[in-house]
Amino acid sequence: MFIEWEEEFETGIPAIDHDHKTLVDLINEVHAVIQRGGAAREVEDVVERLTQYVAEHFEREERYMEAAGYAGLTAHIARHEDFTHQVGTLAREFDLDPDAVDLNALLEFLADWLTNHILKADKAYAPTVRAWLERNPETAQG
Ligand SMILES: [Fe+2]
Repeated sequence: MFIEWEEEFETGIPAIDHDHKTLVDLINEVHAVIQRGGAAREVEDVVERLTQYVAEHFEREERYMEAAGYAGLTAHIARHEDFTHQVGTLAREFDLDPDAVDLNALLEFLADWLTNHILKADKAYAPTVRAWLERNPETAQG
């Protein structure tokens, strides 16, 4: 295991915490594949699943922040776009030449980004979104 789930990662928003746990699991999967010296194809597959899940998760977060009227929405979306762009670039590099990509650096980047983003940016919107969900409990699913 590469990232251990910590209580401090919790936002108190069930759907978001569930997503974040899934992302941690996927990064740990990337780690496991690299650790056992998996083929480039296998690394690509799990990175692909991770980026797809990240896209779904970002959309969900952005919907919540928007519905809750979170003031930091635009800045938060810019961080998501930045990450999507960086991962896209790395994935393309890997696709062109797997040997040219330092997999441990890729892993560090993914893990650092996710944990810092959860601890800072996501925890910053959490009180606003939690308060909105309390006022609108019927939207709390998904
Ligand atoms: Fe986020």
